[in-house]
Amino acid sequence: MNLREQYERFPYPPIPALALPRRGQGEGLRFELGAQLVRNGYAETLRDHRGIRILVAGAGTFETLVVAQTHPRAAELVAVDLSGSSLAKTRARLRLHRLARPFTRLPCVRLVAADLRDWSDPRGFDYILASNVLHHVEDPAALLSRLAGMLRPGGLLRLVTYPKASRLWMREAGHWLALNGVTPGTPSLKRRAHEAIGLLPPEHPARLAFETQGETAREAGIVDAFLNACENPLSPLEWREATRRAGLSLVAETQAESSRSAFVVSLLPATAALDAWTRLQILDDFLELCANPVLWLRKIPSLSGGAPAAEGTSELAPAHVPDRWAPRNLDEFWLPSRPLFELAWNLRRAEALLSRAGISLKTALDTFRTEVGPRVSAPPEERPLPGLAATDYELSSLLALEEPWRDHDWQELERELGSGLRLEHEGVAAPSGPLHLQAAWHQCRFGASKPEIPLRLLRDSLRES
Ligand SMILES: C[S@@+](CC[C@H](N)C(=O)[O-])C[C@H]1O[C@@H](n2cnc3c(N)ncnc32)[C@H](O)[C@@H]1O
Repeated sequence: MNLREQYERFPYPPIPALALPRRGQGEGLRFELGAQLVRNGYAETLRDHRGIRILVAGAGTFETLVVAQTHPRAAELVAVDLSGSSLAKTRARLRLHRLARPFTRLPCVRLVAADLRDWSDPRGFDYILASNVLHHVEDPAALLSRLAGMLRPGGLLRLVTYPKASRLWMREAGHWLALNGVTPGTPSLKRRAHEAIGLLPPEHPARLAFETQGETAREAGIVDAFLNACENPLSPLEWREATRRAGLSLVAETQAESSRSAFVVSLLPATAALDAWTRLQILDDFLELCANPVLWLRKIPSLSGGAPAAEGTSELAPAHVPDRWAPRNLDEFWLPSRPLFELAWNLRRAEALLSRAGISLKTALDTFRTEVGPRVSAPPEERPLPGLAATDYELSSLLALEEPWRDHDWQELERELGSGLRLEHEGVAAPSGPLHLQAAWHQCRFGASKPEIPLRLLRDSLRES
């Protein structure tokens, strides 16, 4: 199922057809809020939304009405989406709104079924909202540039996007579903997904990440968050480069209404010497960019072709590249955990970024451990969710990890040794199948709790005897 088919079949968000936005809903996406965040110059030319043109990019089923409700005096609101069924839901909701709230003013709304990657509007926009859409294309930076090209001088772009590193356990949950044969086409998808997740131990971080997500109450939420045809978020430093190339600058960033990069400074004052993107990167590498960041971007009026290069875009790699793992004895070996290796890789990068502010990785993690603590579930329960934060892991064992084998390494081994091989961990075998899928199964099942997974490679015949 490709992305268009996915959103045709599972329009998002899966909000009931008769639901309308609450009055006052959407305060956080008001144009005026963005204009206020730009302190000088710009706010004097465009102070409020009267007469502006708005684009809602990748509008889905609900956002258009929220934006329309909060911008009643806009000249026009254009909502673009790949999915005709999402737009049909939006159209029905707009009709319902006119019937239910006949005296509430809305701007002129135009719905367009199109792929944003090859759609444009020559008249341009003063305000573009791209909420949770750019991470669903193969080249988010190219789409950002395209949107920036439609922004009028001084215009604002409000980008909401998945974090990258911080979705580690959500991605692991998605891998686990796929390994258990759960796909968007699976009948009784919701039940099957919950059953598959239930095969993991109750305290497994991927299971906790799945079960504490409100999205999992509906099939469309499960597909959107865990089985998406294309999930490709950029990291904060990649966004920094993408915005620079698009001729945009960061005005402010918020998450749940407060600045996350300012939060890093409040914990580690020396990071004030780093730029906001770098602080967001450190937060993401610590798995602490939990909700989707909101990035307010402004068109740089004086520059065409982007701002000068930010210093050091090679910062994405860690300072020390770990060794590659090689098994010494194939009968019995310790496989480095892939999810924990990923976490360690990101922490090494954070280490390099923190060192520019004179802070050691250990000090920074210790500060987060004492000041932030483990992740907890939503109130009122607020129970600890072990394993979701980087501070739940012992740093020295993470940093000692070598780079685990990738699929092609296992495939090569299987070509060498022939089929009929089984990977077993303490008497537990992965379901039979290609060796790389068996390794992936062990990684998902045991890699969260064991930095090195003890495994044995057996011939099927040997196992049975
Ligand atoms: C996760 S939903 C977000 C919907 C809405 N923005 C919100 O936040 O509630 C992503 C939406 O983007 C749309 N989309 C994804 N890629 C697109 C593209 N290349 N062009 C147009 N729409 C796209 C999908 O069809 C889907 O409706």
